[in-house]
Amino acid sequence: MKTVAIVPAAGSGKRLGSRTKKPFVLLGGKPLVTYALKTLDSCEDIDGIIVAAEKRCVGRFRRLVKEFKFKKILDIIPGGATRSESVRNCLRSIPTACDTVVIHDGARPFADRKTIKESIRLARRFGACVTALPESDTVKLTDARGLFVSKTLDRARIYRAQTPQAFRRRIIEKAYASSGILRATDDSYLAEACGAKVRVLRGSGGNIKVTTREDLKLAEVLL
Ligand code: CTP
Ligand code: MG
Repeated sequence: MKTVAIVPAAGSGKRLGSRTKKPFVLLGGKPLVTYALKTLDSCEDIDGIIVAAEKRCVGRFRRLVKEFKFKKILDIIPGGATRSESVRNCLRSIPTACDTVVIHDGARPFADRKTIKESIRLARRFGACVTALPESDTVKLTDARGLFVSKTLDRARIYRAQTPQAFRRRIIEKAYASSGILRATDDSYLAEACGAKVRVLRGSGGNIKVTTREDLKLAEVLL
């Protein structure tokens, strides 16, 4: 059990605004979360998977794991009020022998195994790795009220964080033991805040997060 994947899938899907819980919303006729799980389950470099699920969805997740015959699911853990609390809950139950942790959003159906493997390799080498997409728009930093431009940032150095993100176990555990986890929307930020070096891995534009109705439509097209 060297490398364990954590899949946060305990969000409420507010922005999607659907009656069905976001992980179970259908994409190409299958529940959204099965795409991420299938890719991780079939990735040779991953030994086990821990899923964070909404408390009242745990049973439903168990049935889904059986139905889709996923082989590497170690545990389905009740999530917390925020994404980072959900991840923290999962971190508490990773096996002793695990030395590398990959975190991948249940709401990102199109990550490929090559990217997952590369993020693991880079995390082993550098300590932490974030998959990120080079920014294509010019980015402005504004004043606190968002009324005036303070600065135009150097676009060549701007990246949008995605998942997978991978870490040496000690680093991600230290990151999550620190304060300020409540407001973090990104795991590598916490590692960074703890002084870890975070290696950037170029991601792809296809690795979208299904957040809104429009994203779900786009996902159907990409599929
Ligand atoms: N997530 C989680 N626990 C939470 C909040 C989010 O595990 N308390 C997970 C989501 O299930 C999702 C990922 O983190 O796979 C990214 O979050 P996001 O896209 O924001 O999903 P939701 O929080 O479900 O959506 P919304 O913010 O619109 O409610
Ligand atoms: Mg959210």
